[in-house]
Amino acid sequence: MPLVHFSDLLSHAYRERYAVGAFDLVGLEFLEAALAGAEATRSPVILSLAESHFEHYDFEVLMPAVVAAAHRATVPVAIHLDHGSGLESVQRAIRLGANAVMVDASHLPFADNVACTREVVEFAHACGVPVEGELGYVAGVEGEDAEKHPGEAIYTSPEEARLFVEQTGVDCLAVSIGTVHGRLRGRPRLDFERLARINSALGIPLVIHGGTGLEDGEFRRLIENGVAKINYYTALSDAAAAAVREAAAQDPKAGYTRLIAGVRRAVQAEVARVNTVFGSAGRAEAALAACRPWREVAHVVVFNPNDLSPEEMEGWIAEGRERLARVPGVRRVDAGQALTPHARYQRVWLVRFASRAVVDTYARHPEHVAYADRRFRPHAADRLTIDFELEP
Ligand code: 13P
Repeated sequence: MPLVHFSDLLSHAYRERYAVGAFDLVGLEFLEAALAGAEATRSPVILSLAESHFEHYDFEVLMPAVVAAAHRATVPVAIHLDHGSGLESVQRAIRLGANAVMVDASHLPFADNVACTREVVEFAHACGVPVEGELGYVAGVEGEDAEKHPGEAIYTSPEEARLFVEQTGVDCLAVSIGTVHGRLRGRPRLDFERLARINSALGIPLVIHGGTGLEDGEFRRLIENGVAKINYYTALSDAAAAAVREAAAQDPKAGYTRLIAGVRRAVQAEVARVNTVFGSAGRAEAALAACRPWREVAHVVVFNPNDLSPEEMEGWIAEGRERLARVPGVRRVDAGQALTPHARYQRVWLVRFASRAVVDTYARHPEHVAYADRRFRPHAADRLTIDFELEP
């Protein structure tokens, strides 16, 4: 059950002054480790999938595992697309089960960042899915030496941040106040005063990217100043790599499974350690009580088609599959036939919605309206439609 509404989770963390760790997953070991670390510390957790990592795994194949693992967890979990590049990746992530998304257009000029982010917000909110935007620029690349990617950091301006949130409608904001993605050699210089001003200008949960390398006291000051989500990856990648190196040193002939045997434990330990620093340890029960469970909806239409030949029916169903799948928040469209000829209804459409917000979106969307009014209903007068909220 514990897939929960991301905004409820961040609001709880923001109110109660702790931060939820968002851990980028690069495979099943990381998925299991992030959840095991969260369970061990009774922490809520954000399972994060970064678009920049899609070259390392098949997103379509990993996501069903992430969704299944989230449902099996006993701590509150949200599934988040990290650094989505735009509408297309957000659409794909929601279809695959993400219940929160980030759009990162922070490299664009302010007006273009607003336009790109607002487009994503409109789409995602129509699916009931909250959005994280980013303003200012956090340099560096996750998993690598920050010095290798010395791009110019741009600090977030509190005034621009207020306009950005107003104009885009984002639910939380990633800010740039001195962190970088990746491995640090020196110490970052964090601008807490700027963070405090952003927090009082916005009053919404703030997000820090580039969590690796910060000291415990720095994390605490970030949280005191409105940070409710901390993205954390490079240290996990380094812990995993160290476990592999150690196994190789101990047994140079070790096979693959021997080499990676310690990865889960190493990543889990680092997740558990930072959960304690972020103050999320021990919050699972309270967060669970404060968060709505995330529930999908099955839109079920049973019907008896009239006056269609088998060939016409095939085209009629194929067209419906294609058009209905284009509605935001539709996760899948299935059509089927009754097993017995005596059933009251002989045919079914089974349309999976990401959440109950999609019920309205679907009813009003031009693709659905056009297909339902002009193609489907004239040939299916005898029908019954019910939306079911699904129990996980
Ligand atoms: P680090 O890799 O520096 O921890 O940053 C992670 C991150 O911000 C992912 O979005």
